[in-house]
Amino acid sequence: MSTGAGPARDRTQPPDTAGLDLSHRKAEHVKVVLGQKVDGRYRYWDDIQLVHRALPEFDFEEVDPSTTLLGHRLAAPLVITGMTGGFPDAAKINENLAHAAADVGVALGVGSERAAILKGQYPESYACVARFPVPLRFANIGAPQVIAQHPGEPVVGAKEVRAAMELIHADVLAIHLNFLQEMVQPGGDRKAKGVLERIGALATEFPVLVKETGAGISRRVAEQLRDRKVRAFDVSGTGGTSFAAVEHYRALEQGAEREARVGKTFWDWGIPSPVSVLELVPLGLPVIASGGVRSGLDVARAIALGAGAAGTAGGVLRAASTSYEATRRELEHLVHELKVAMFLTGSRNVAELQKAPYVVTGESRQWIQH
Ligand SMILES: Cc1cc2nc3c(=O)[nH]c(=O)nc-3n(C[C@H](O)[C@H](O)[C@H](O)COP(=O)(O)O)c2cc1C
Repeated sequence: MSTGAGPARDRTQPPDTAGLDLSHRKAEHVKVVLGQKVDGRYRYWDDIQLVHRALPEFDFEEVDPSTTLLGHRLAAPLVITGMTGGFPDAAKINENLAHAAADVGVALGVGSERAAILKGQYPESYACVARFPVPLRFANIGAPQVIAQHPGEPVVGAKEVRAAMELIHADVLAIHLNFLQEMVQPGGDRKAKGVLERIGALATEFPVLVKETGAGISRRVAEQLRDRKVRAFDVSGTGGTSFAAVEHYRALEQGAEREARVGKTFWDWGIPSPVSVLELVPLGLPVIASGGVRSGLDVARAIALGAGAAGTAGGVLRAASTSYEATRRELEHLVHELKVAMFLTGSRNVAELQKAPYVVTGESRQWIQH
């Protein structure tokens, strides 16, 4: 890989095409996201224009961004969505995120816990988040792992989910849909039959949120999941971190020509984040708006569309890989910008921001007209 972001892969190690070296893969995801441009090519959040209110009629210091999400009180409607765990350096990233999330009062998810619960790899790199009083924690597993992908490979069932939740003292289980990523990843999981029913079975036993990983969720899929007792969604739409892009760079490194090409072709595939939010809000379940959220203004835009909270991953990764102080500063900037947007739209609190007028422009407008 020509990232310049660190040493190239140790070629004495076999590539992780059989899913054997999850730890290595999770480390590479972080390296690629920090070292390459992997965001989508179009910023859909800029299509959402909040209408300026020239005279707010209250003081800035009265603005209150606190909210309740899935029964948990947050200082602001913000979630750091699942990214990492399962390799040595992930512990520091997750610790910085958890420390800052607890101090600022926002929610936090960890990355896929498959490495820890199925392979016993670096459980402490996840467990460290339980040491901080984060107001709402999301455990994380991948939808492809709830069914058998390869003969003899372990499957995530109720026992493994319980372990994943206990490891980080999670309040909610996030199950991620990542079939775009699997299509670009050399040796990716290709089986999806039965996943919906298995998610439904888990959702009867655990509080389940279903999230995408950068390609958005349509109303049809959300309805299928809602009918199976899924309690909330994180849209993770197109426009932010593109996992087609991330896997494109990994495929290049592995010399996987076809996958590298698919990654380039499908770089911007998916439903734009704001469009996915507008599709899901009418279902009446909590919606987290993520995918390309990079400022407090984007958070405000998401709330105005009706989301219960906004989520960001790639937007805080650099700070999280630097220090607790940098992470905390980044979160505080996001919350401050959100408050500025609330003041300038005349929204004293989150409920008022949810009613703030907005205009949809650009490509997002074309999407919602269909
Ligand atoms: C380095 C990295 C690793 C990620 N790993 C996971 C994961 O293990 N599980 C998951 O549900 N989402 C994962 N994601 C996806 C994010 O939670 C999020 O849905 C996506 O990156 C879009 O948000 P963003 O544009 O703010 O990055 C990862 C994202 C990044 C940047």
